[in-house]
Amino acid sequence: MSETVILGCGYVGMRIARQCLDRREAVVGWVRSEAGLARLQEAGLAGMRCDLAREEPPSGVLEGVRLFHLVPPVEQGVEDAHTRRLVSSFDRAGQPKRILYMSTTGVYGDCRGEWVDEGWPTRPTVDRSRRRLDAEETLRRWSHDTGGELVVLRVSGIYGPGRLPLARLRQRVPMVRPEEAPYSNRIHVDDLVRISLAAMDKAEDGAVFNVSDGNPSTMTDYFIQIADAAGLPRPPLIPMSEAPDQLSAGMMSYMSESRRLSNRKLLDELGVELIYPSLAEGLRSAL
Ligand SMILES: NC(=O)c1ccc[n+]([C@@H]2O[C@H](COP(=O)([O-])OP(=O)(O)OC[C@H]3O[C@@H](n4cnc5c(N)ncnc54)[C@H](OP(=O)(O)O)[C@@H]3O)[C@@H](O)[C@H]2O)c1
Repeated sequence: MSETVILGCGYVGMRIARQCLDRREAVVGWVRSEAGLARLQEAGLAGMRCDLAREEPPSGVLEGVRLFHLVPPVEQGVEDAHTRRLVSSFDRAGQPKRILYMSTTGVYGDCRGEWVDEGWPTRPTVDRSRRRLDAEETLRRWSHDTGGELVVLRVSGIYGPGRLPLARLRQRVPMVRPEEAPYSNRIHVDDLVRISLAAMDKAEDGAVFNVSDGNPSTMTDYFIQIADAAGLPRPPLIPMSEAPDQLSAGMMSYMSESRRLSNRKLLDELGVELIYPSLAEGLRSAL
């Protein structure tokens, strides 16, 4: 088995790394900061620093590796300079054998609440998602030009221990009334880790997978379920017409898109059985 490199070894990446160690595979986590490196060391994981905003990976280190690319895109514009720098570094750093890229479901844009499978056209409506699509396309060009293998996961909202909006609920930030709220989709981090490993191990070269638990609900329902499970007050509800004045620009951008993600392909082709097929089950483990 070739070495595994996890580029962007944070919340999800560290959990993938631990699973690799349990499987007795050689794994190195890469991060941007000293704090990230210290976190890896505390967890007993081999680590390296490389900030893709300003530097390329060292010579030879990526030759023949299985590369999990989990680095978020840059924060502005419509191109992902991180992924572009990574790919242009491969001539010196070495060509990975296979890359798994963690993209997002935002690349589909607003789908007006329809069920969305992997054949749905990509029509990102905000720059954040245009950068994601640019990263996907940059990697697809690399795969086409070099024969390197590529798998793309389009991941919905990740939740799990330490990744719940409890502070927001405590602050009593309002949410839009359920009947006006868009659909949103989620995946528990433990399931995402198992899906990522299965996709790296056995997905067909070039495959794209939607990653969600297959049980979409509204964003408002998400907050209400978490409040109930955590014993916190439910958020105050407001009409959509008041949302632009009361919600952050970031939340408004999420509220402007509605999709229901089909996860049929990942269940059929990767053979992963979800531990947490709905929020109700996942919250018991996450809280
Ligand atoms: N949150 C969601 O609901 C969601 C949904 C779909 C997809 N995703 C994506 O899934 C991926 C994994 O998510 P996560 O929650 O594990 O993210 P995370 O905890 O924020 O970890 C991101 C990692 O990337 C590293 N990084 C950031 N900028 C970098 C740069 N310029 N060069 C090199 N490394 C850099 C960070 O290093 P440091 O630790 O040193 O800062 C960190 O280790 C991310 O791309 C995320 O955007 C997230």
